Amino acid sequence: MNLKKQFTEKIITIDGPAGSGKSTIAKLLARELGFNYIDTGAMYRIITLLALENNIDPEDETKILALAQQSSLELENSPADESRYTIVRLNGKDVTNEIRSKEVGAAVSIVSRLSGIRKYLVKLQRELSKHGNAVLEGRDTGSVVCPDATLKVFLTASFQERIKRRDLQNKQKGHLIEKQAIKKEISSRDRIDSSRKDSPLIIPENAVVIDTTNMSIKEVADKIKRFYYERI
Ligand code: DC
Repeated sequence: MNLKKQFTEKIITIDGPAGSGKSTIAKLLARELGFNYIDTGAMYRIITLLALENNIDPEDETKILALAQQSSLELENSPADESRYTIVRLNGKDVTNEIRSKEVGAAVSIVSRLSGIRKYLVKLQRELSKHGNAVLEGRDTGSVVCPDATLKVFLTASFQERIKRRDLQNKQKGHLIEKQAIKKEISSRDRIDSSRKDSPLIIPENAVVIDTTNMSIKEVADKIKRFYYERI
């Protein structure tokens, strides 16, 4: 481990399964620490949208990669707006809402399995975080993207709690989705994320594991900040 690098490039990675509280916590920490928030899931979603908009089979790595390399992907932080914290642009067009569509949600787990796409995005993610002062959120940010991060966090929560949270999020967004469908979606995501050949969801080496089931958002954020301040 490179201590000098750790000190000069302040990076926190937050990984964990769907519904474990990653996004809420990562945004809160980024806002409080004045760090850049890097939503790596949004990047997999943009590439998926790109494939769908161009009628490319989400398994066709060669075509998707070629198109991605010719496209411009932009992520801009707008901390004042919680629901649009990361404004996402594809070839100059704001696609912040489109990347959260049902269609993208259904195809993103296929696209995120493609090794060439992962390699391409990991390079971009490292580029975005190379100056430090960043919170990265995803599934492999501590294990693959930034294994030398100042602090690596792995968030978990019980299956029931994760369903409850996703249900609440959907209701707040005005999306009417049956609890049964949420259950199915979360267990399918768990299975795909953890069994993927390339960069499966794992607890990164030396990561701090926090079970958020019975914790408030503030308690989780405070705990992470305590760990972070101990390290710097
Ligand atoms: O966090 P999210 O739901 O926006 O992620 C979308 C998809 O991308 C999800 O299927 C997991 C995948 N993903 C990934 O494979 N690696 C990451 N670093 C982030 C997300």
